[in-house]
Order: sequence, then structure tokens, then C-alpha cells
Amino acid sequence: MALRKIMTHKEPQLHQVCRPVTEFNGRLHRLLDDMLETLDEAQGAGLAAPQIGILRRVVVIDIDDEVLELVNPELVETSGEQEGPEGCLSVPGKWGLVKRPYYAKVRAQDRHGNWFEVEGEELLARCFCHELEHLDGHLYTEKMSRWMTDEEVQDYYDEA
Ligand code: NI
Repeated sequence: MALRKIMTHKEPQLHQVCRPVTEFNGRLHRLLDDMLETLDEAQGAGLAAPQIGILRRVVVIDIDDEVLELVNPELVETSGEQEGPEGCLSVPGKWGLVKRPYYAKVRAQDRHGNWFEVEGEELLARCFCHELEHLDGHLYTEKMSRWMTDEEVQDYYDEA
């Protein structure tokens, strides 16, 4: 495993549509392992392959000790609404107020190519939406209503 460099929103890779994964081989497994190590080191909730400069439809998520590897993920169902702070490892030190569905269901392949479905609420649903948008070259900053201060973000989590 190896740490990869996380790119910022200024890099062109963050604004491109990623290609589907077609080969479920050792190279994909190394990519997933590296992404998980990089996410852990950065103490983030999610990481998409374009954030390390790889234009493939691959996402890893680590929330509340639930680790997910999503290959070729698709959003298949959403419902409800939530509004709260959102950050991104490619937009370091910033937070924005973003409206997202309260619930989301994702269909994806695992590292061996098997399809599965996973559903989430609150932060996990927010993370699904955020990470999947990375695969189409979009950042949360495009849909946030405004920036939030560190104090506002802290207050939001204290009240939660
Ligand atoms: Ni992000």
C-alpha cells in the first residue's frame, strides 16, 4: 500500500468525467488499498479516484468504522432532505452549507466485480452524493448556498 497525493480543486482532473472500471484485477485492488490508506491518513469521510488523479469510477468511504469500496457506483434512490456543512479533502480548510437527500441508496460493484446495494442516511447519504459527483467532475462548491465558518460547523455538530 502507498499514500497518494490528494489533488486540490485547481487541478483539471477534478473537473472531468471518469471512465468506468472494466478490469477487476490487482491494479484495481492496489488502487483501492492506496485510496483507503490515503483516506485514513487524511482523516476524511470519503475519497474519489479523481482526487488522486485517477480518472476511474472508484470511491472509498470510511464513516463510523463502516468502510465501503464502491466501484462504478450509481445513485438508484434518494428521499427526504437535509441541510448541513460539507467539506472536501480537495478543498482543504473550507466548509459550505449544502442541501442533500436525507436518504440515499447506491448500487455498485465490489473489487471483484460483484454488484451490491448499500443504503445510508444523514452523513452517509451526504457522502454518497458528494463522492459520486466527483466521478462526474463536480464539487460541492457548485451547489452550496454559502460558505460556513469553523464556529458554525462546530455548533452544527455539537447540536447533532
Ligand atoms: Ni470531495
